[in-house]
Amino acid sequence: MPIVEIENLTKDYDVGFWRKRKVRALDGLSLSVEQGEIFGFLGANGAGKTTTLKLLMRLIFPTVGTARILGSDISNVTMHQRIGYLPENPYFYDYLTAREFLEYCAELFGYPHGERRKLSEDLLRRVHLDEKRWNTQLRKFSKGMLQRVGLAQAVINDPEVVFLDEPMSGLDPIGRREVRDLIASLRQEGKTVFMCSHILSDIEVLCDRVAILKRGKLAHVGNLDELRRRAGDRDSVEIIATALNVETFKSLMPNSERVALAVAAGGLRIQVQDESEVDSVLNALRKAGGKLVSVQPVRQSLEELFMDDK
Ligand SMILES: Nc1ncnc2c1ncn2[C@@H]1O[C@H](COP(=O)(O)OP(=O)(O)OP(=O)(O)O)[C@@H](O)[C@H]1O
Ligand SMILES: [Mg+2]
Repeated sequence: MPIVEIENLTKDYDVGFWRKRKVRALDGLSLSVEQGEIFGFLGANGAGKTTTLKLLMRLIFPTVGTARILGSDISNVTMHQRIGYLPENPYFYDYLTAREFLEYCAELFGYPHGERRKLSEDLLRRVHLDEKRWNTQLRKFSKGMLQRVGLAQAVINDPEVVFLDEPMSGLDPIGRREVRDLIASLRQEGKTVFMCSHILSDIEVLCDRVAILKRGKLAHVGNLDELRRRAGDRDSVEIIATALNVETFKSLMPNSERVALAVAAGGLRIQVQDESEVDSVLNALRKAGGKLVSVQPVRQSLEELFMDDK
C-alpha cells in the first residue's frame, strides 16, 4: 500500500480585489510514495510545492482531487496524529522558550507530564540546538535555530510519515549536514519522508525517488538515475587543483584536447566529459606537483531539467 497517494490534486487561488480571477497553482497532480522512501519534491520557486503540502495537511482545501495518507483520506483527523509536518516558514509562539514550546507540542499529542521534559530535551539534542539556547525565547532565535526547533516539533509524535517543506532553508553548511543526517536517520527508523526543495544537491544525497513540478504540473517522476539519463546528463566532472605548473600538466595529459582547462586565481579548473577520465587527470596532476582541492560531478543538465520553464 502506498503511504501517500495523490490523485488529480488541483488548487485554484482566488486573486485580485476588484476583479476576482483564479490562479491555478496546482494542476492535476497524481503521484504515490511508498513505505520507507525519502521522496524529493523538486521545483523552481512558485512551482506549487508548498501548495501541495498545505493541501495534504488540510491547511487549505483542493479545488479538485483527493489524497490519502497511510491509507486514510486526508480529512481523517486521527491519521494526522500519525504524521509530522515542518512548514516552510515555521512561526511559533514568540514568548515561549524552545523547551517550553516542545513540551507544549508534546502535551498536544497527549504525552504524560513526566515524559514531556525528557522527550523535549532528547529532541533538542537530536536537532543539535545548542543547550545554552534551550531556555531562550523563540523570538530571539535566528532563522536556522527556528528551523531546528521546527524539525524537532515535526517528529515529536514519532510520526510514520514526515512532510518537510524546505528543511535546509536558513541553515549554515554544518546545519545542512546535520539536518541531512537527521533525515537519513528517519529513514533508518523505517519512516517515510516527503521533502520539498529547490536545491538539487540536498535532494541528490538523500532521496530515493524524485518528482519534478513545473508551474503546478508534474513534469517528471522517477529515481535520480532515470531522470539524469532523460536529461542527457553526461557525467562530466570538475576537478580543481592548486599549486601546479599548468604547462607541465598539459604535457602530461595524453589527450589534453578532451579536457577543458580554466586558469583561476586560486588554481586550475579542469573539466572532463566522462568520469572514466578522472584517473588520468589525477595522475597528471600529481606529477605536475598539483594539490587537489576537489573532484565534483557536474549535474548541470539535471538542474536545467527542473529549472527550465518550458
Ligand atoms: N494564498 C495564495 N493566494 C494566491 N496565490 C498563491 C497563494 N499561495 C501561493 N500562491 C501562488 O501559487 C503558486 C505556487 O506557490 P507555492 O508557494 O506552492 O510554490 P512553491 O513551489 O512552494 O515555491 P517556493 O520554492 O518559492 O517556496 C505561486 O504562483 C504563488 O504565487
Ligand atoms: Mg514553497
